[in-house]
Amino acid sequence: MNPETSGELVGPAFADDIEQVLISRERIQDRLRELAAEITRDYAGERVLLVGVLKGAFMVMADLARYVDLPVEVDFMAVSSYGSATKTSGVVRILKDLERDIADYHVLVVEDIVDSGLTLKYLLRNLAARGPRSLEVVALLAKPGSPPAELRVRYQGFEVPDVFVVGYGLDYAERYRNLDCIATLAPAVYSS
Ligand code: IMP
Ligand code: MG
Repeated sequence: MNPETSGELVGPAFADDIEQVLISRERIQDRLRELAAEITRDYAGERVLLVGVLKGAFMVMADLARYVDLPVEVDFMAVSSYGSATKTSGVVRILKDLERDIADYHVLVVEDIVDSGLTLKYLLRNLAARGPRSLEVVALLAKPGSPPAELRVRYQGFEVPDVFVVGYGLDYAERYRNLDCIATLAPAVYSS
């Protein structure tokens, strides 16, 4: 990895596997504070449910929820759209559903990354059918060219290049989720 461009060192557990830090911990936190301030303004006085999409969104959810200065409620869904490969299959399965009816809530879906948008498209259609008061999306990351026009991400953190990234909730074969920054992996990781 390159500490010069990242301004940050990765701990020894990951140092050998990381090629480059694309977004440092500090930039992620600064951006989440900005998005949270917008959300705090936009939803003042409303009943808000943050819906985290497991597993990738667990870190965004934890930090964003703390920065939002509203009495929000929190719930999670788990969906599966990937194996351990790096390309989406387009097939989305709900592995864990919400624990409540969302008709009385302004729902904000919290996502780690929007790539092809297939996962989000499925989720939004599914949630919209339950008749929430409103339905919007927060996504920490988006790849270029995404999402399709009908998938409006109201609160977006960063655009990343069209490469596979890990960290801050995002995995490769279930690892690297606990990195506190967004990074690319060294080619050797994929071939081993
Ligand atoms: P989409 O359906 O192609 O938009 O992909 C959505 C899901 O795929 C995300 O919520 C992630 O879990 C996963 N994903 C997409 N791109 C990446 C990546 O670059 N790194 C890790 N996971 C990714
Ligand atoms: Mg994943």
